[in-house]
Amino acid sequence: MFSINENYLKLQGSYLFSNIASKVRAYQAAHPENEIIRLGIGDVTLPLAPAVIEAMHKAVDEMSVQETFRGYAPDLGYEFLRSAIRDHDYKARGVDIALDEIFISDGAKSDSGNIGDIFSERNRVAICDPVYPVYLDTNVMGGRAGSFDQATGRYSDVIYMPCTEANGFLPDLPEERPDMIYLCFPNNPTGMTIPKEALQRWVDYALQVGAVIIYDAAYEAYIAEPDMPHTIYECDGADRCAIELRSFSKNAGFTGTRLGFTVVPKKLMCGDVSLNSLWARRHGTKFNGAPYVIQRAGEAVYSEAGLAQTAAQVAYYMNNAAMIREGLTSAGYTVYGGVNAPYIWLKTPDGMTSWEFFDYLLENANIVGTPGSGFGPSGEHFFRLTAFGSHENTRAAIERIRKMG
Ligand code: MLT
Repeated sequence: MFSINENYLKLQGSYLFSNIASKVRAYQAAHPENEIIRLGIGDVTLPLAPAVIEAMHKAVDEMSVQETFRGYAPDLGYEFLRSAIRDHDYKARGVDIALDEIFISDGAKSDSGNIGDIFSERNRVAICDPVYPVYLDTNVMGGRAGSFDQATGRYSDVIYMPCTEANGFLPDLPEERPDMIYLCFPNNPTGMTIPKEALQRWVDYALQVGAVIIYDAAYEAYIAEPDMPHTIYECDGADRCAIELRSFSKNAGFTGTRLGFTVVPKKLMCGDVSLNSLWARRHGTKFNGAPYVIQRAGEAVYSEAGLAQTAAQVAYYMNNAAMIREGLTSAGYTVYGGVNAPYIWLKTPDGMTSWEFFDYLLENANIVGTPGSGFGPSGEHFFRLTAFGSHENTRAAIERIRKMG
């Protein structure tokens, strides 16, 4: 008789966003006349930029002609895309990243889950609390989490780093010593980000204790304030301790098109083993590349027109973020985030739990958000709204919340 990966049995409930979607479906079925505004999952709503669409059309045409047809993509991704990434995301910020340190993928969600493949099951993992659930769940699947304690809502072997009002939603260095540290800035779900000096402390700490940082910078395009690092490699020594995950989903609207990349510097070593070569081996064996058409679309994001058009999309969403922040503040809510990130993290009123507020908002204002406790125990009594809706829906949502009182 075969056996299964029993770590899967330790997962709690279903994936947060699937759980919310089924609750909303049930509500909609019971109240078909109500118009629901969805500010829950961080999914974009604007169409792809014209420069991106044009590049996709051209690439589709190339695929129809013998001379320009492409089959399997190169293991690491097409060089035209990796060069554009190296030049715009790194060189332009004074960071030296080589082409063979960039691995094109189908998005940061897959990479943040798959990266665990190259690490031992024995590693101690540190995550922020609240956290994007993928980091935790994939480590549960990978056998690094231990057992779940219903009373605390925590796994025995995971090091939780609370991000609360008291520490400005920036994790403190953990007391227990981790081997793998997951950081995401600008942060999902709190919408807060980290100043360079504070990130440098994490890099120094990781180097000191021999930990690796898995740095998710999927929301870097939303950074508006100075002194906030756009990549962890702006910090000294990060190329010896950090892997960076990036995405085209939030800066260019590729949530449905799927494209991302991971940077694994060659200086990042475990003893005499290079993590870059391990990831290259994993990538070459288990992944056959993002489609040519989509990689051409990604390249177009870095064209002059693409940069201007995607910047306008980010500005559109940040306008929503400002509208939510101001609207909620004037309605008496305490809000965080939304300045360098497309997420607003609000405190639930009257001591409601996050799920109570979810139901309250759905029933009284027909608005869907994400309960903070779904991101971890320290998210309890908080609630996340995204700025990825349309202006019209965002304005209507704020109006409904105001009326709700
Ligand atoms: C979120 O809502 O947290 C994100 O959309 C999830 C994701 O990017 O996978």
